[in-house]
Amino acid sequence: MARRCERRCYVHDPLDFHKEGVRKVLAEYIGFFSRNGLGDFAFRWLHVLVGIMWIGLLYYFNFVQVPAFAQYGDEAKARNIAIDKVARKALWWFRWAAVSTFVTGILITIITENYFYDGFGTTGKGLSISLGMMLGIIMMLNVWGVIWRNQKIVLANAANLLAGGEADPNAAAAGRKALMASRQNAVFSVSMLFFMVYTSHGPYATETIELSGGDVALFWIISLLIIGVLEVNALGLMPWKTQPNKGLNVLYDGPGVRNPLIAAFGLWVIFLIVTEVFLKFDVPTL
Ligand code: HEM
Repeated sequence: MARRCERRCYVHDPLDFHKEGVRKVLAEYIGFFSRNGLGDFAFRWLHVLVGIMWIGLLYYFNFVQVPAFAQYGDEAKARNIAIDKVARKALWWFRWAAVSTFVTGILITIITENYFYDGFGTTGKGLSISLGMMLGIIMMLNVWGVIWRNQKIVLANAANLLAGGEADPNAAAAGRKALMASRQNAVFSVSMLFFMVYTSHGPYATETIELSGGDVALFWIISLLIIGVLEVNALGLMPWKTQPNKGLNVLYDGPGVRNPLIAAFGLWVIFLIVTEVFLKFDVPTL
């Protein structure tokens, strides 16, 4: 008969709990390095740790650095020094935190026993984390595929100008592309984090009751359509391309950071409605 931990522990019954004293305490804490201890706890903790570093820096770029650098006005040299010294370092932590978040997130699914259980794709819990992971992975690809690729041009231009070289004519366009992807990541981040947390702590999504095929299909069609349109826009592939304040680009521009904030919480409200409508199963009456 399986015995439960008598007090807090990382795993239930990893070893022989009849042991006494130091051996018993050790047995409990050795559980930290067991499969459940690592998957359920250690990688989750690391995942949230590097996740806050990534998203914290994303918010720094969007809500602090971009508006602050715009205030430098004619002080081009001061701005270039700030880009070369501050933004360069922030971007280093930012892009490696993004990879680390992705890797630790995937590790949770690999190490946790039977993470992708039978019927995973038709349960509220499975759909919730699938959408959260999809948003996180798109954001990570935006970091490496768009933001970093274009920021390299901006950084090289700033360093070159400081060394007395010529301005790169492509730097402004590269900066705009990086900004659009970064703003889109900020917009996605609110919903992404919602699904990360909702999966194990939300009121309905923790249940493994199977949803109907129609509900699952509609959940994905609506979600993918919204994400697809926003991402295509962020890549500058809509007719208005990268022009500020044109078409859907109003989500990234406007006065200060008002529009990205409204867009981020507006998108979250839409996903909340989609979640409530399609991931909610009939709660049995007692
Ligand atoms: C980059 C792609 C990402 C992947 C593949 C991923 C994957 C995961 C997985 C598998 C879980 C466990 C969900 C569960 O079953 O309970 C999780 C939870 C979580 N993730 Fe992510 N994630 C990603 C990005 C992020 C980011 C950027 C953050 C930002 C902080 C984040 C924060 C969290 C949080 C707070 C939890 C909840 C931990 C808990 O309460 O148990 N994730 N993630």
